[in-house]
Amino acid sequence: MPEPLLGREYQDRPDLVHERLRQRHGAVAPVDLLGVPVWLVLGYPEALYILQNDALWPKGIHHWRARNEGRVPHDWPVAPALTAENMMARGGSGHATYRAAWDSALKPFQEPGHPQTRRLKENIRRTANELIGFIAQGGRTGTADLAAQFSRPLPLMVAGELLGASGSQNDQALMDIWRILDAGPDSAEASARVLAAMAELGEQKRRRPGEDFPSYMLAAQPNLTTSELAHELTMLMGMVADHGGILIANSVVEIITGDGRARASLSAGMIREAVNHVVLRKPPLSNFVPRFPLRDQRLGEYIIRAGEPVWIATAATHADPRFADGTSANRATSTRAHLSWGAGPRQCPSRELATTITTLALESLFEQFEHLELAVPVDQLPWRSSPFVRGLRALPIRYRLRDGYEIPAPAPALRTGRHRAAEAEVADSSSTLRQFLTGLVTGKIDPDAF
Ligand code: HEM
Repeated sequence: MPEPLLGREYQDRPDLVHERLRQRHGAVAPVDLLGVPVWLVLGYPEALYILQNDALWPKGIHHWRARNEGRVPHDWPVAPALTAENMMARGGSGHATYRAAWDSALKPFQEPGHPQTRRLKENIRRTANELIGFIAQGGRTGTADLAAQFSRPLPLMVAGELLGASGSQNDQALMDIWRILDAGPDSAEASARVLAAMAELGEQKRRRPGEDFPSYMLAAQPNLTTSELAHELTMLMGMVADHGGILIANSVVEIITGDGRARASLSAGMIREAVNHVVLRKPPLSNFVPRFPLRDQRLGEYIIRAGEPVWIATAATHADPRFADGTSANRATSTRAHLSWGAGPRQCPSRELATTITTLALESLFEQFEHLELAVPVDQLPWRSSPFVRGLRALPIRYRLRDGYEIPAPAPALRTGRHRAAEAEVADSSSTLRQFLTGLVTGKIDPDAF
């Protein structure tokens, strides 16, 4: 039986696990993923070859021979993510149609100079500053959980704006996404609720289109059924909220504890370069959705049989000496040939948007906080255990606000307790952020539930 991949060591030091596998097996290693044998690709050229040859190495769980033969348990916990009917998981010829609709619907939000891109950027800056103001209520110096108080709520707000969902409408859906992504005990119910909410939102947009992602998607693909659209919207929300949040938090960690290059780029005003270095060093997507070769193929030291699942381990491919030796630590800029956004026809369509959210978030943080440091030793950061992403459950930091930062007046919810909080919520029902924060303060939302 191959070595189990997930475990305490993988959670804390995946690099050690990857190197051990590389020593034993070379570029491709057989591993056990929660009781199911799969292949893990550790070699950079091998990964690039697979990603660029989508026709030979397609996604699509229907290609999985062992599963078709009933050899994968029905309750395998990874299966729901692979059977989801959205663009990330889907294989086959239908992909091109969905991809065109995604590209077209994202375009207004990531095209430089487009009024919607400008509006979105302003809102991100405003929301980031509101969140910092909220943290600042704790005093000019103090401790905070930057994940709960900044890197998670900020992209959640962006998701709400992209979806064109007003205030209270998407509050519940935002919370449900967290329940699903953190695989909580009620994630199945949350998933059904969020799909229903997205279906309702999609129907509203079909009747009354707006300037938002669902309306643009329907304009690009009017034949999308309500259910198809709901799956894509759920995915949009999950990707923006979860992956966006992971990238912000990973960036903060890399900037304050990393090899100095991300910090140097930030200090030099090269913030996009800093983010590029972060995604190279700490890829949010640790293992991609698997591919299945259509015929037997040699890869590294092994022959992979048709229909066997192959997972690309992003960080491991970046540590492959055939790639890493070309990205010497002395170079001023890091390579853009990394695989953190994928490669080939299935690469991330939202790279520009995710980078923009992150750069604006980091700009606000490092402008308003003169000093940020981890409040726990770096090796005690609580990483999530996930076969797909590498992100933190919490990001405890100690901060010092910059001189001259004016701490904003406390929100009514903070000043006067539950009754006024409820009034404030009604009075300002347009702001999901405020509702969310009010919910936290009044105890309507339990932060430990996430
Ligand atoms: C704004 C938020 C994001 C959205 C809406 C988004 C959306 C998507 C979508 C729809 C795909 C599937 C593309 C296809 O199959 O044709 C995808 C793929 C991908 N995304 Fe993103 N993404 C976001 C953020 C991120 C972030 C922060 C990262 C990591 C740095 C990332 C890394 C990837 C990778 C590696 C793939 C390819 C996965 C594979 O080949 O299996 N994405 N993204």
